[in-house]
Amino acid sequence: MSQSTSSRSTWSSRWAFILVTIGSAVGLGNIWKFSYLAGASEGSVGVFVVVYLACVVLIGLPLLMAEILIGRRGRSNPVAAMLNTARESGNSSWWALLGWVGIFGALMILSFYSVVSGWMVDYFWQSLVKGVQVGTPEEAKTAFETMMADPLRLSFWHTIFMILTAGVIARGVVGGIETANKIMLPLLFLILVLLTLWGAWVGDMPAALRFMFSLKTEAIKAGVVIDGMGHAFFSLSLGMGAIMAYGSYLDRETNIGHTCVWIAAAGAFIGLLCGAAIFSLTFGYGLEPAAGPGLILQTLPLAFTHMPGGRVFATLFFLLVIFAAWTSSISLLEPFVSWLTERFGIRRAWVAWGTALPVWLLGVAVCLSFNDWSEFRIFDRNLFDMLDHLATRFMMPLSGLAVAIYVGWKLGRIIVTDEIRLKQRAFSLWFNVLRFVVPVGITLVFLYELVLRDGFK
Ligand code: PFF
Repeated sequence: MSQSTSSRSTWSSRWAFILVTIGSAVGLGNIWKFSYLAGASEGSVGVFVVVYLACVVLIGLPLLMAEILIGRRGRSNPVAAMLNTARESGNSSWWALLGWVGIFGALMILSFYSVVSGWMVDYFWQSLVKGVQVGTPEEAKTAFETMMADPLRLSFWHTIFMILTAGVIARGVVGGIETANKIMLPLLFLILVLLTLWGAWVGDMPAALRFMFSLKTEAIKAGVVIDGMGHAFFSLSLGMGAIMAYGSYLDRETNIGHTCVWIAAAGAFIGLLCGAAIFSLTFGYGLEPAAGPGLILQTLPLAFTHMPGGRVFATLFFLLVIFAAWTSSISLLEPFVSWLTERFGIRRAWVAWGTALPVWLLGVAVCLSFNDWSEFRIFDRNLFDMLDHLATRFMMPLSGLAVAIYVGWKLGRIIVTDEIRLKQRAFSLWFNVLRFVVPVGITLVFLYELVLRDGFK
């Protein structure tokens, strides 16, 4: 299955690669998940933030480099890249399984990621055409629940989002993915800076920063530590073939180590900035930060309703979330599409739309799992929770662990040093962290998730 590499696309520059990878990393995870996870870790938000940042450095950064290394060395889609590198290093072709888990896991995530993104498109549209007007927490809750109870409405916005995603992928690596990121990411950053300043002006930024960074060590609980670790994983798009696929279009000259520092730093910085803007408004309007997954859609609209220029702010905010989600969702579709295109030589556009169709269908089932099919439960979870649970708590950590073992222990120093051209000390530091810290860290998260928190559900 070794692929011909001569006709493969390459990002137009190192910065283009940095941009697309930041685009993949910064998504619903940084905005929606980060704010509600932080908000939910009562009294220990600072611990959550510090653990998250430590994990970005200690687990995320080394794995990011390892995944890019495999993609670039294998010069192919995740399945073939694993196969090519396994053959080159004299390892079993069973390692290709890791690529399979990645490309299918990414599609699984995409099915519900697109549904949640659809909620954001819905709220964006509402803000744009009439403004989200909710005077009380009850009204905000009812507005959200009304949307969730309507399968047609959910499916409609999910469909729009899937079309946006497949449309970019169909246009190719440079013409589609790179161009989309080059347009959306600078806009995203601009809107974010604007909203943070605006949020600081009308909200309560000092309270937000105190909330996010006050370290109460007595509040350290295993759950918060593990949440911070898991979040670092999700927010850097690790373990799902996305980074591997993007790495496969990277030229040989780019220094993987330096590039990854930029990516990890930008991902964490944008996440923190979003958190600061969101909590500044939350506190400024006397609202409750621990609202759970509804923080963005139930708490923030209250602030939008009461603040000066709230409608414009809300429209821009949801546009920002859409850009963030869109640049991530394309990285979830790309691994499978690149595999099918390269393996069978089918035209990319056909493959993109053809792959989007079953993912869309699964997404429609996810929309129904909130209402008409809510009775249908697997291990006491609806389909949405089940897919999220399976992908983010099982598949991501396990394949991250496998990547660390593969690059740290199996690939061999010659290949690894040839790809990661760092100075001796920096290289040893990275390599040892990858071989020891990452596997131990992930194993701890995994055991906790599996055994302590949920039992074997
Ligand atoms: N990093 C994305 C986010 O934070 O929303 C989610 C994601 C994208 C996860 C791509 C995994 C992936 F392969």
